Amino acid sequence: MGVMRIPGHTDQKPREVSLDEIRSVMGDCRACQLCQTRTNIVFGVGNPHARVMFVGEAPGKNEDLQGEPFVGRAGENLNRILALAGLRRTDVYIANVLKCRPPQNRNPQADEVLACSPYLREQIRSIWPDVIVTLGNPASHFVLKTETGITKLRGRFHQMGHFTVMPTFHPAAALRNPVWQELLEEDFRMLGAYLAKHPVDAGLAAVRASAPEGGVPVGVPPVIEG
Ligand code: URA
Repeated sequence: MGVMRIPGHTDQKPREVSLDEIRSVMGDCRACQLCQTRTNIVFGVGNPHARVMFVGEAPGKNEDLQGEPFVGRAGENLNRILALAGLRRTDVYIANVLKCRPPQNRNPQADEVLACSPYLREQIRSIWPDVIVTLGNPASHFVLKTETGITKLRGRFHQMGHFTVMPTFHPAAALRNPVWQELLEEDFRMLGAYLAKHPVDAGLAAVRASAPEGGVPVGVPPVIEG
């Protein structure tokens, strides 16, 4: 995947750059038109050394007002079903493809995704999770580099280089469709079973537990193309 220019780093390796450094490169981002209508940039929240990273679509109204992803009804749904995977919100990291709210929550436009994607790529490289859970079509398409719909993608894990990816329904969409909600919950149970079956390597667990916010260099496989 392309590497963003981060002051003090050249060709940064996984877990080399901190989320704070990425956030400070973003500054008062003006890379696309959404800067004109946003209230807050919604960068991301959670454990910078998370084993599981969630990627949503874009901030909604509540997220735009509060500057935090998934704090509205979709976020309540997400918080509830995290327990099905044996996870708490503080265990994971949550970000979106777009960091600014599209007006009236319209779908992200291709030029907006293009402008914003370097930040998400660097967040993924910084956290270097084992599992990426993509919520809904835009996030799944971005991470899996496919146009296949979420109903066909969900229900199984996909391997993308280092990352195990679990595409599933968006928690907001699932609130409007009880069948999707059931399948979303089924996927989260599948995630819990996967995590239990693939215990984290003891050395890496120690690194994760002791890692400073700034991140640590760890022997890592090559970066996937994005
Ligand atoms: N929907 C998303 O995709 N992201 C949020 O942060 C909130 C709602």
